[in-house]
Amino acid sequence: MNIKKLVPKGIRVALRPLRVAADLLPSYYYDFVRYLRFSSTGTEYRSKENLRSRITERFHNVEKGLSLPSPRPGFGKDKLPDLLTYIEYYLQNFGADDFIKVPVTVLARYADFNKRVDLVDYPHRDRIERLIQVVGAHEASGEYGTRPVVASDVRSVTENVSLDFFLSRHTVRQFAGQDVDISDVEWATRAAIKSPTVCNRQNTRVYFTLEREKIHSLLEIQGGAKGFADQVRGLAVITTRLSNFWGAGERHQAWVDGGLFSMSFLLALHARGLGAVSLNWSKGAAKDIELRRALPMRDDEAVIMLVGFGHLREQFSVASSWRPPVDDLLVHLR
Ligand SMILES: Cc1cc2nc3c(=O)[nH]c(=O)nc-3n(C[C@H](O)[C@H](O)[C@H](O)COP(=O)(O)O)c2cc1C
Repeated sequence: MNIKKLVPKGIRVALRPLRVAADLLPSYYYDFVRYLRFSSTGTEYRSKENLRSRITERFHNVEKGLSLPSPRPGFGKDKLPDLLTYIEYYLQNFGADDFIKVPVTVLARYADFNKRVDLVDYPHRDRIERLIQVVGAHEASGEYGTRPVVASDVRSVTENVSLDFFLSRHTVRQFAGQDVDISDVEWATRAAIKSPTVCNRQNTRVYFTLEREKIHSLLEIQGGAKGFADQVRGLAVITTRLSNFWGAGERHQAWVDGGLFSMSFLLALHARGLGAVSLNWSKGAAKDIELRRALPMRDDEAVIMLVGFGHLREQFSVASSWRPPVDDLLVHLR
């Protein structure tokens, strides 16, 4: 039956928004249910991961406070009780593992700071000292809390990075046949881990393969590498956990944090002399479920995107991918 013949064009056009809505609604519903089930919205005690996210967000505020130009003695009085309760609950239920040492060490730094500014009786001292005792946080490494940075050290690394570094990155869809070394993937991941995340809630994962068959089957599911799938020598699937986030305001945060991680990963591959192609995960529910089944992924992980990569050929071509002039997008607020 040809619907075009049966329904006049005017009605078809008028009904178009309904058709679009009918298409969109199941995907929104899928995302909504996943966020409701797997984010930490009102469920911080449901799982270890949910609790870790809460603790991370809270202790990062303490770290942040300590890194301000002049922290206020005894800052965070009202926010600390929640953090302390979360940590106490964590210790009771999951024990003093490596994770919990980090927030408690930050609390030890907070205690040191207050003592240094002669606030001996700082807020929640008894609870904080008990936790430091239980976890043995005094001996923990000095890398938590704050660290000094010397501007000339930063400059010595950045002064050789030119605009050309960024301008010479292209999406590459033709690769050399040579295999990618696993150390390149690790290098790129180490660089990408340094990407900022909201309140330092670090929960990105990179599933990667250098095996042709696996690459091929994952690209089949992804569907956006038609015509060059056989070229790709390495493939990464980047995910972020929904359990990292909570509340309506953070419903898109997984994609922001995961997107930043992905960009760093791409630039790191570029810095390593490899070519890479971003591969979208702009999919509906059915595809998302299919990819989840193909990977050892936890339920709370959201797929951000895929990245195909490989060595550069000595000569190759890329899509020009026009960019607007800088003035079109740069708005100087005066
Ligand atoms: C999230 C994302 C998804 C993408 N998905 C695909 C894809 O599925 N297939 C593809 O060939 N290119 C894909 N691209 C690459 C873009 O087409 C490319 O980045 C854009 O044209 C700009 O070109 P450039 O990266 O060379 O500057 C994707 C890019 C991004 C950022």
